[in-house]
Amino acid sequence: MARGHLITLEGGEGAGKSTQMGHLEAWLLTKKFDVLTTREPGGTPGAEAVRHAVLSGKAKHLGPVAEAALFAAARADNVQNIIRPALESGAVVICDRYIDSSRVYQGVSGGVPEAVLEPMQRAVVEGAAPDLTLIFDIDPVEGLERAAKVWAEEGPDRYEQDQLDQQHVRRRAFLDIAAREPHRCVVIDASVDEETVKKNVQKAVKAYLDRAAQ
Ligand code: TYD
Repeated sequence: MARGHLITLEGGEGAGKSTQMGHLEAWLLTKKFDVLTTREPGGTPGAEAVRHAVLSGKAKHLGPVAEAALFAAARADNVQNIIRPALESGAVVICDRYIDSSRVYQGVSGGVPEAVLEPMQRAVVEGAAPDLTLIFDIDPVEGLERAAKVWAEEGPDRYEQDQLDQQHVRRRAFLDIAAREPHRCVVIDASVDEETVKKNVQKAVKAYLDRAAQ
C-alpha cells in the first residue's frame, strides 16, 4: 500500500488550528480517506505525560535545550506509535503542531541553535516528514485576544504567557519557514471568518492531494 499523507498545522496562539483540524478531518472523511488526527506535544500516554511537564512550566528550569529534548522525546513516541503506523496503512494524518513549532518556539524564540535542533528533529521524524504544512497566520494582537477567551476558562500554559513581542518574533519565524519551503508550506490567513478559513484549508489540501495523485 502507498504511504499516506502527513499534514501538519502550525502557527501562533489563537489562530484557530484546532477548530480547523476538526473541519478538515470531517471534509476528508466525506472524501472517503482514512483520517487520523493527533496533536503535539501529546498523542500517546507517554507524550501526554511530557506535555504536562513542559506546558505546566515544571521543566522550565532545565533550560531550552532540555525542553527541546523533551518535545523531541514526546514527538518520537507519537511518531513511532501513532503517526508512522498510520502513514504505513495509507491514512491521511493531521497533526496539530509538529517540527516547525520546535524550530520556532525552541529555536528562534528559545535560542536553541539550529545545529542542536535540526539533527534532533531529523532523528525523530525519520520516515515521517510532513508532506504539507498549513501555517495559520494571524496578527499576534488579534490572536492573543482570541486566545485570552480560552485562557479565561483553562488558564494560559507556559508558552502562552509569553509577551506579545515574542508572538511577533514567532509569527515572522513561521512565515520565514513558509518562504524557505514553498513546496511544502501554505500560509493560511487565519484572521478571516471561520467558514472562509475552512474553504481555504480545503483548497490547499485538495491542491496537494491532486499533485500527490499524479
Ligand atoms: P497547546 O495547548 O496545544 O496550544 P496551541 O493551541 O497553541 O497549539 O500548546 C502547545 C504549546 O506548546 C504551544 O504554546 C507551543 C508549544 N510547543 C513548543 O514550544 N514546541 C513544540 O515542539 C510544540 C509541538 C509545541
